[in-house]
Amino acid sequence: MKPPVRVVVTGAAGQIGYALLFRIASGEMLGADQPVILHLLEITPALSVLEGVIMELKDCAFFLLEGCIATDDPNVAFKDADYAILVGAMPRKDGMKRSDLLQANGGIFSTQGRAINEHSNRNVKVLVVGNPANTNALIAQQNAPDLDPSCFTAMVRLDHNRALSQLAEKTSTNSKDVKKVIIWGNHSTTQYPDLHHTTVCGEPALSKVDKEWYENSFINDVQQRGLAVIKSRGVSSVASAVSAAIGHMRSWILGTDEDDWVSMAVLSDGSYGIAPGVFYGYPCICKDGQYEIVQGLEINDFSRIRMNATEEDLRSERSSIEKHLISIVTE
Ligand code: NAD
Ligand code: LMR
Repeated sequence: MKPPVRVVVTGAAGQIGYALLFRIASGEMLGADQPVILHLLEITPALSVLEGVIMELKDCAFFLLEGCIATDDPNVAFKDADYAILVGAMPRKDGMKRSDLLQANGGIFSTQGRAINEHSNRNVKVLVVGNPANTNALIAQQNAPDLDPSCFTAMVRLDHNRALSQLAEKTSTNSKDVKKVIIWGNHSTTQYPDLHHTTVCGEPALSKVDKEWYENSFINDVQQRGLAVIKSRGVSSVASAVSAAIGHMRSWILGTDEDDWVSMAVLSDGSYGIAPGVFYGYPCICKDGQYEIVQGLEINDFSRIRMNATEEDLRSERSSIEKHLISIVTE
């Protein structure tokens, strides 16, 4: 057995938190030889619910679970953290865009970014799930100036998985036969699910589906899937979001498959003409705990228009947050 690592989950008593903790404690995220100490952050009124969650965690007798710390203080939660999954935030309801959550949720991520900066391990790996995830990741990262920006990522893996699944269904194959899907940009309706580099059973995906389906159904269905779930269930996705979060962290920490990549939102560095300063979904390969943006892919005009549109969306979210940040910094 390895020495234990400290994993923070914020919003630990919420819908996603509740489902996520058990999968981490059972070893699904970090492997069956990696003990964990869970650091669970909640707001004060939810601490009594969190107590019950901890009772249930204990009742599972997970041999990898070496301890649980429950707190409403970010400075305690992020102390010595090796990994952090930032879930705690308000979810949207039918009729709302994810960006409508920006003002409500933005403040949470500046406080947590500062606590991470101050207290976490210098190579902490942070995944932001709470919406709007890309811009919340930017807020957290900007409030952690002492850390390498590559410590911070946001989740577009759910969109990636949705694309894998929808394409597999369309081509009557299995999601494991589908490789190299890309979600470019924002986890919003402007995201661009790109199949130009994707293969299905080793052959180009776009040779297996008609153009009309790709351009007029698939892209829109992936973009709108979160809303479709909300309309059907009355609340936003939970189990699929948890699965995506586990997959995102597992790929980052344990590596991606040789012949594939994953989509991760990371701080843009100019790759593919996306100017620095936003958390943008890119195809990434991961090795030895580091991610790298896949370089050198050819981008046609169809893709370029959509990649620029989702960048614009992120820049507009960023500009509303810049105002918000000023009031937080001068608090
Ligand atoms: P939920 O309301 O069930 O749970 C949120 C929890 O966060 C609550 O328990 C709340 O008390 C807690 N919380 C609120 N403020 C907090 C703070 N400052 N510190 C710590 N905890 C805090 O919501 P949920 O269904 O678990 O969703 C959580 C977030 O994840 C939402 O913003 C939702 O939109 C987002 N989400 C993102 C994706 C994605 O793909 N990126 C997918 C699904 C959901
Ligand atoms: C999703 O994509 O399911 C989540 O981001 C929830 C939402 O608001 O759509």
